[in-house]
Amino acid sequence: MVYLTRVEHFNAAHKLYNPSWSKEKNDEVFGMCANENWHGHNYELYVTVKGEPDTDTGFLYDAKKLSNVIKEKVTEKLDHKNLNMDVDFMSGQMCSTENLAVAIWQQLEPYLPKEIQLHCIKLYETPRIFVEYFGVKV
Ligand code: NI
Repeated sequence: MVYLTRVEHFNAAHKLYNPSWSKEKNDEVFGMCANENWHGHNYELYVTVKGEPDTDTGFLYDAKKLSNVIKEKVTEKLDHKNLNMDVDFMSGQMCSTENLAVAIWQQLEPYLPKEIQLHCIKLYETPRIFVEYFGVKV
């Protein structure tokens, strides 16, 4: 089994605010991330797929094609957007990096070709904070 990772980038705004809590509790739990007028991040998205290299090309999958499908299904829907307000697949849930990584998996996985499997979504919110999601284990 070989693993191939493509890195993509997007900028987006969000806030972490639970509307069923008081402002005081939101401030206590989320700190600056609860700022009413939003804040932004430079997200780095690592998409790792796995499979066996093709005997004719030696490739697991064409990295450019993988980039295109990530852009079409994920990053074009997120880049320069407000995650809380503009992104249909994040509506109704907390816009944490954890939830965003799971949502990205769900957006992307149905559109990958049969010869590769999605292995991991790794999403950096800052250079020092990232989340990894490996899908639902069955
Ligand atoms: Ni934030």
